[in-house]
Amino acid sequence: MTGGVSAEAVLPGDIARRVIDPHAYAEWDGLLDTFDAIRADTPVVKVQPDTPGLFDPFWLVTAYDDVMRISKDNAGFLNNPRPVVFSFNQAIEFSRAATGSNMLVDSLVVFDAPIHPKYRKLTQEWFMPRNLARLEDELRALAARTVDRMLGLGSEVDFVKEVSGPYPLRVVMQILGVPPEDEPRMQMLTQQLFGGQDKDLSGSGMDKMTPEQVVQIVAGAVKTFEDYFAQIAEDRRQNPTDDVASVIANALVDGQPLPPRDMAGYYIIVATAGHDTTSASTAGAMQALARDPEQYARVRADRSLLPGIVEEAIRWTSPVQHFMRTAAEDCELGGQQIKAGDWLMINYVAANHDPAQFPDPRRFDAARSPNRHLAFGAGAHQCLGLHLARLEMRILFEAILDRVAAVEPAGEASRASSTFVGGLKTLPLRVVPA
Ligand code: HEM
Repeated sequence: MTGGVSAEAVLPGDIARRVIDPHAYAEWDGLLDTFDAIRADTPVVKVQPDTPGLFDPFWLVTAYDDVMRISKDNAGFLNNPRPVVFSFNQAIEFSRAATGSNMLVDSLVVFDAPIHPKYRKLTQEWFMPRNLARLEDELRALAARTVDRMLGLGSEVDFVKEVSGPYPLRVVMQILGVPPEDEPRMQMLTQQLFGGQDKDLSGSGMDKMTPEQVVQIVAGAVKTFEDYFAQIAEDRRQNPTDDVASVIANALVDGQPLPPRDMAGYYIIVATAGHDTTSASTAGAMQALARDPEQYARVRADRSLLPGIVEEAIRWTSPVQHFMRTAAEDCELGGQQIKAGDWLMINYVAANHDPAQFPDPRRFDAARSPNRHLAFGAGAHQCLGLHLARLEMRILFEAILDRVAAVEPAGEASRASSTFVGGLKTLPLRVVPA
């Protein structure tokens, strides 16, 4: 042990349960209170199951600096071979039986070097601002149509259902070549993949599901996705276009096309990572603006404030709530001795609400500077779609600010029960057309 290392800190059982309980994530303030208390006491702390074998123990990392350090050290903290997202052992066993891998989907987030940089390079350029610029006109037209439709529904709307849900979904489906008529199916599959623990989003209607039930929902969604994208890839090999679906379908790595499972994983990660995340940060931005009419009026009058609103909304909502890593070697972190092979949860919600990095972190502060949040992660796996997410949000809010004079809450908003991707699932608003 090195100098500053103390006896192993273990989270008490009742608090540990909150960290892994999807329902705890539906209560935002309570969740932030929990992370604040944990961070202040033991910023790196062991979470152990109170039922033996339920899940492998892991280190919960809640301080900004520690999450940043782990994210940037991709040789020291690996995504493979353990699930990149918190999983119960039953789920991992199910996945191994179904696919031979610990993960149901092999996608970018699952690979480490040397494969990861090769796969990442295939689409990196496509997602850079220079290439995305050619999508702007289409995005503007889509944003205008979305806002028109919302205003056509009357003065009260559920912003998630009508705007922040469908808009990013269409964008991502368009770049993947999915026709509009297939979108509802894609939406449901994504929600099952990310919100398998939520009774509404999973479509199960069940409040409490066993890990096995959750994983069966998720596995069914993965299989349907795989079959669907195999057809898209075949089409793009025959008729390539300039969309990202064509880039993936025709990609060569070391002179070979992607193996079918990796190709399906590539489509699935873009399809899924790309919309519920952006939807959650878009809904969060709108919630913040609806609660603060003066701020809404200010940004209507001065559009230069918009990028600050977008960035702060992404920090404030942190839609991707965690990822997992496995330590490649022994090290010291936050006063704890981490062993090679230990599992760690890097918690973006907690890191993005660390008062040492973000003064008054629960306040929505569009002028926050610096705002070097971790909502997109950092290091080799930093979000591939971050420029697209920002662009989409900016263009949508330009359309909203043009067409909506004022907005206010029209009831209680509700959040998804999910430990992984989370955010508002309803946001009732009263809107006044301009
Ligand atoms: C506000 C919206 C979004 C948020 C908060 C978000 C967040 C994240 C986070 C936290 C990661 C993991 C970073 C890490 O491990 O260091 C990630 C990875 C990724 N995101 Fe996003 N994302 C968003 C939107 C998008 C969009 C629009 C797309 C694509 C259309 C996308 C595609 C991806 C992909 C492919 C990865 C895997 C990258 C890799 O492992 O190399 N994301 N995202």
